[in-house]
Amino acid sequence: MRQLIIAGNWKLNAPEIKDYVSKLSAAPDGVRIVIFPPFTYISEMARYPEVIERQNKMKIEVGAQDVSERDSGAYTGEVSAAMLRAAGAGYALIGHSERRRYHGETDGAVQRKVKRALDAGLRPMICVGETESERAGGETLRVISAQITAALDGLSPEEISLVAAAYEPVWAIGTGVSASPIDAQNACRAVRGAIGARFGAVSAELPVLYGGSMNSANAAELLAQLDIDGGLIGSASLDAPQFCEIIKIAAELAASEES
Ligand code: 13P
Repeated sequence: MRQLIIAGNWKLNAPEIKDYVSKLSAAPDGVRIVIFPPFTYISEMARYPEVIERQNKMKIEVGAQDVSERDSGAYTGEVSAAMLRAAGAGYALIGHSERRRYHGETDGAVQRKVKRALDAGLRPMICVGETESERAGGETLRVISAQITAALDGLSPEEISLVAAAYEPVWAIGTGVSASPIDAQNACRAVRGAIGARFGAVSAELPVLYGGSMNSANAAELLAQLDIDGGLIGSASLDAPQFCEIIKIAAELAASEES
């Protein structure tokens, strides 16, 4: 049975945490939930009894939106993987297109961050995605395959089994226009295929999420695709009732696939 992951990336936003967590704790079982709040909210979130209770059942986890590629030293503004782990993070989002675009994050930096995260016990969720012009030029599958291959360079098979990937077309993020289910499926299959070409059968088990204007209206069609193992959700994750609705859709899908 597929384990679906519904992840919320809050970016530079923070709903009222106590209220959000209490609404989220009522979400149905059967789906893995990961919340990526800004750094300063990680320890607060990770300590709520509702989160701890569900974390113990491996249902709700807290993650960081970025991680330093360094362990320590004179790097003002950076937060290390070990610090994030100590704060209660279980995941780290790495290589989000907003980091690549606004902070000049290269494939090399993404690869080093992935390694640092794994060394500290964080599960990396690696984001890949093409821009509008790359899409128009028919470059989508080449671009995302190259990004994921570079990000995983040098990892062992054991490390690969701890990784998740997220296909997030840049043109779909925050625009209200998601990729069509079939395009998202083809891209997620290409991400899995690139991992399989390098690391073999483990790619079949590796979660590949879709992100980019996913909401409660389009989640069912996207999540029903064979190679889409969940959603990485920005704006719709800020609204706890809508986010719970997406979790419910995923839980029903998982249950129907099981039967
Ligand atoms: P939106 O859901 O707001 O398009 O954001 C997607 C995203 O970037 C998640 O990481």
